[in-house]
Amino acid sequence: MRRRSFLTMGGAAGLAVAMPGVASAAVAAPGRTRKAARRPDFGSPGSLRGLAVPIGLHIGTAVIPFDLDTPAYTAILAEQFSAVTPGNAMKWGVVEPVQGQFDWSDADTLVSFAEQNGQLVRGHTLLWHNQLPDWLTTGVANGTISSTQLMDLLEQHIFTEVGRYRGRIWQWDVANEFFLDADPSGINPNDFWVANLGAGVIPQAFKWAREADPFALLFYNDYNIAGEDGTNAKSDAVYAWLQQMLDQGVPIDGVGDQGHLDTQYGFSPQQMTQDLQRYATLGLKVAITEADVRTFVNNPTDQVPTDNLALFAQPFEFAQMLGACLETPECISFTVWGFGDADSWVPGAFAGEGYAALYDVNLNPKPAFFALQQDLQFGAFGAPRRSLGGRHR
Ligand code: XIL
Repeated sequence: MRRRSFLTMGGAAGLAVAMPGVASAAVAAPGRTRKAARRPDFGSPGSLRGLAVPIGLHIGTAVIPFDLDTPAYTAILAEQFSAVTPGNAMKWGVVEPVQGQFDWSDADTLVSFAEQNGQLVRGHTLLWHNQLPDWLTTGVANGTISSTQLMDLLEQHIFTEVGRYRGRIWQWDVANEFFLDADPSGINPNDFWVANLGAGVIPQAFKWAREADPFALLFYNDYNIAGEDGTNAKSDAVYAWLQQMLDQGVPIDGVGDQGHLDTQYGFSPQQMTQDLQRYATLGLKVAITEADVRTFVNNPTDQVPTDNLALFAQPFEFAQMLGACLETPECISFTVWGFGDADSWVPGAFAGEGYAALYDVNLNPKPAFFALQQDLQFGAFGAPRRSLGGRHR
């Protein structure tokens, strides 16, 4: 029923890409040409997206619009991935650089690209302390924006952005990175939003997002929440908070572990699996949302690892993360944070590190790519099948 009413609302484009296994032409709205609804939905037989189809898993990547101008890049993007996340294009600072003046160009381009290529979209992100517009943070700092006004602005932001893409976003990262890297962990009292509006702003954001788009799966997203901190403290805190939120009826559908790993620290695949499965026991979907595995490199341009063992650790850790997802039937997507080393955020964010992606600086697939490919090949025979997910799909 929901789907039917959705179609009558003119949301067919979103629905068409939301049903892998169904030819998009078959559900295209009247008036959409067959040409527009071509069906690359499965990728080629050996592609990551194609290999993941039998188990209902989506393989995603973050994309920055600049990349869409490079044909070699878009070819891989369309061929290998069945989901995309805007790396920056939907962050508040990008969509509303000047108060009241919106720039949706990059986000629109990416959503259209996804729809034309049978890909689902993860919206990222509505409530985060980073990449906020200057006018907002300055206004709060100098007192020209009061707490009441800040709350109103946030409400407007969520309704405007989520409303704009209503029916076309599969998963929204509603809230991002609110927990402390500490043992014990907990919500960071110094977070911009929490400090100004209290921790109640997080559930409020989920409620607004649900109202603005009842079709999207709403996610809490964070890093090191599947045991990567070594203590599992952050996972424990997030798990307890999610339980409390769900008990209070807050509309949270899923939890995303970013999955930013670093070969110098290692991680426990068993812990990751247990943590993902523990979230799933709450009735939530889970996802790996920003996977990459960084290591020390010679320089940011060539990104050749300085330690030979990293050549083994990098694909191993990627494969183990995918394995944790495969072992968890509620894990519906495995997304990498960019697929090429040349446009990875890592060299810019972590001094001396790189080599974090699946493809090298020249867009050649690396051992990590082949490791994932092989695991998906095997996974198709043994991993539990998952459904697209949530109450709404
Ligand atoms: C990063 C982008 O990749 C960079 O281009 C930008 O300069 C900073 O943000 N966790 C997140 C992502 O949730 O939004 C971040 O993306 C990486 C860490």
